[in-house]
Amino acid sequence: MSKIELRNITHIYESGGEKTQAVKDVNLTLEEGTSNALIGPSGCGKTTLLNIISGLLTPTEGKVLIDGEDVTELPPQDRDVAQVFQFPVVYDSMDVYGNLAFPLRNRDVPKEEIKERVQETAELLGLVDKLHDNPGNFGPEWSQLVSLGRGIIRHDTTALLFDEPMTDVDPGRKLTLRRRISQAQQRLKVTSLYVTHDQHEALTFADKAAVMNQGQIVQYGSPEKLYEQPVSTFVGNFIGSPGMNFIDCVATDSKLKVGSFEIPISDEIKDLLDPSWTSLQVGIRPYQIDIADEQREDKPISTTVTLTEHLGSYRIITLKLPEIDKEIKAEVPLDEQVEVGDEKFIGLNQENIRLFHEGQAIENGGE
Ligand SMILES: Nc1ncnc2c1ncn2[C@@H]1O[C@H](COP(=O)(O)OP(=O)(O)OP(=O)(O)O)[C@@H](O)[C@H]1O
Ligand SMILES: [Mg+2]
Repeated sequence: MSKIELRNITHIYESGGEKTQAVKDVNLTLEEGTSNALIGPSGCGKTTLLNIISGLLTPTEGKVLIDGEDVTELPPQDRDVAQVFQFPVVYDSMDVYGNLAFPLRNRDVPKEEIKERVQETAELLGLVDKLHDNPGNFGPEWSQLVSLGRGIIRHDTTALLFDEPMTDVDPGRKLTLRRRISQAQQRLKVTSLYVTHDQHEALTFADKAAVMNQGQIVQYGSPEKLYEQPVSTFVGNFIGSPGMNFIDCVATDSKLKVGSFEIPISDEIKDLLDPSWTSLQVGIRPYQIDIADEQREDKPISTTVTLTEHLGSYRIITLKLPEIDKEIKAEVPLDEQVEVGDEKFIGLNQENIRLFHEGQAIENGGE
């Protein structure tokens, strides 16, 4: 296990005279032994970044350090980074035993030691019963475990990289594979980076997640931090299902105005507001919106219910704020009486809101 550092990484692809900037000035440090996720929409540069870490790509600019050593120019085989790809790579000319033993045989490891290590890896990944089967006949979740096994069987693996390994796996089998990957990571304490565009997958697997958009890492932090303190409307919207609500408002001296409704603000927040910012957005998570049947001082904003969705243990309702022609989502308990067409009143409690100016959170200057 190792510490991985990316310093000012930029990558530009050139093909047929066309240039595509896939990664822009990325800085990221993965501490030794940690489990990390990389999430972001399709095309944002996740695979490019992963391939730069493993050495399949040399970045146009910037440096990759493994334990402080500059490996930017080193080929993949000299970095000892294991990579599990979107689609499993297994040798179907060999059985599972042969697949697992392959990286060791290549390095002239003694036969007895190979046997022990294959057994140990197979136990860790639940492959003991399948050692003499041909992986060509397996479903993708087992093939991915074989690929992972090949990556971790060497004891000098510096990092484990996963590029959307669940892509081809049946929805019903995903949980089992994810659990096995997670167990292996925890047992071996290998620094890992797991790419996905599925935030649930990312946040259950990782200690920390990096959110990427248009070639840049826009926030790196714990799942709680990403959820509670998104640095931008992009992160607020991307993390959470449904994402954070954003409501346009106007800042006056000591209040925020949403349409004709006023929300008091604390002195601390007031101090952060630049008087030249006339238009702001209030961000609030659906679970933080409480609804009431009657208008009250703390729930002054009138809304109309336009949709209710039953999601197992709670409901997500869509509320329209007619005055500013805006729809937001709120999470309500199942026993709350809500029908489409009802008038409900909401408040925006300043403890639960986050303010954004031009898409960046203002509490921390959009860092
Ligand atoms: N070999 C290539 N040549 C030219 N452009 C490329 C190449 N590979 C990727 N790109 C472009 O670089 C950008 C980033 O691609 P990348 O594959 O890293 O994204 P991604 O986040 O992994 O996407 P996905 O979620 O779809 O896998 C995209 O605009 C893509 O079209
Ligand atoms: Mg990709």
